[in-house]
Amino acid sequence: MRRLDELAQDTDEPGKITRLFLSPAHKSAMRRVRAWMEEAGLEARCDDIGNVVGHLECASPEAPCFILGSHIDSVRDAGRYDGGFGVLSAIAIVEELRRTAVRLPFGLEVVAFGDEEGVRFPTTLSGSRALAGTFAKESLGVRDAEGVSLEEGLRRFGCDPSAIGAIAREARQVCGYLEPHIEQGPVLEERNLALGVVTAIAGATRFNVEVRGQAGHAGTVPMALRKDALAGAAAMISAVEEEARSAPEIVATVGTIAALPGAVNVIPGEVRFSVDLRSPADAARRRAVASIRARLHAIARERGLRLGIGSAFEAAATACDKTLMEALGTALSRKGHEDFRLPSGAGHDAMAMASLCPVVMLFLRCKGGISHNPAEAITVGDAQAALEVMLDFLTHYRPPCPGPGAGAATGSEGRGTGEARRR
Ligand code: GLV
Ligand code: MN
Ligand code: MN
Repeated sequence: MRRLDELAQDTDEPGKITRLFLSPAHKSAMRRVRAWMEEAGLEARCDDIGNVVGHLECASPEAPCFILGSHIDSVRDAGRYDGGFGVLSAIAIVEELRRTAVRLPFGLEVVAFGDEEGVRFPTTLSGSRALAGTFAKESLGVRDAEGVSLEEGLRRFGCDPSAIGAIAREARQVCGYLEPHIEQGPVLEERNLALGVVTAIAGATRFNVEVRGQAGHAGTVPMALRKDALAGAAAMISAVEEEARSAPEIVATVGTIAALPGAVNVIPGEVRFSVDLRSPADAARRRAVASIRARLHAIARERGLRLGIGSAFEAAATACDKTLMEALGTALSRKGHEDFRLPSGAGHDAMAMASLCPVVMLFLRCKGGISHNPAEAITVGDAQAALEVMLDFLTHYRPPCPGPGAGAATGSEGRGTGEARRR
């Protein structure tokens, strides 16, 4: 909890927590996290996509590794637990394993991903996609609001974009991924539960919209002769909301908007806004996106506006691994908690990691279900409970599919025997 408070000092906006991908605050947070990893006994390094990776060898260096992690980038004016809790709780687990001299039959890695929120660039999950081997080179061309490409941003940050391919792991090297994370919703609190196992993560589509009309004098142009880009955008935003309200499994958000030139007495000539749409059902999400696109074009036509819709960022809905869910649920029961399961409406690095290895998430209750807000809060007791469950899970877990050499790591105990070896 003290470290989470310290991490909150790494911000691009004094007085708030804003830590955007590849920003100075991201750099200082990486330094801080790397030092904590090293202090915990992990061999730590920063990779070429802005992740911090800490590795703990096990008895057999050939054994596959289990990855614990989350992200250290944030939204603007964020809380201190979204992402940070997953990374710092994982480091605390490594410290505890060391203190108690427990050796796991698999290697352990802690990863602090750098790009989960997707606030700076119109793409996201770059770090976890690079690790999973699904990072698309074309996304190096996307640009932030200042026109800086992701490729240039990486170079300025000290990363080598041409080396991103080498970050990818092979499936046989990784036996699983656990992401501890605050729930960011009200379900656990309402049920009076500290923790829950995530069953699936909703899929997402994001895209930027540009509406162009004709800037003009606010006093002289009659209403019928205007091409007001902002009035058009308002109709479009209402259409986005209507579309989501009319489908039970869709949520949609317009979270950013800019109107130009931006003066009280000028008809807006140009507007840019973002659309973020989520659903646990991929087909319903795609249908809603297609319908929204058609409605935006129709509104633009009606009002004589030009419309540009940027390329979409997409992440499919992701199911958590059944075996890992069972193992985590059993750990919850052993520690005296209800084995409660719930889906995630928010996106997570686990979505990208799922194409590399089995994934699971442990959700932690947060106050009022509030997140993406400085009012985010958790209790020490709940954090402690999460750590106990993570530790119990790791010391009992045996990966079902051994990588080369994993047999040597489990030694004479074989797999599924349930107890971690002690030195
Ligand atoms: C990340 O927090 C997201 O779900 O947008
Ligand atoms: Mn998060
Ligand atoms: Mn977030």
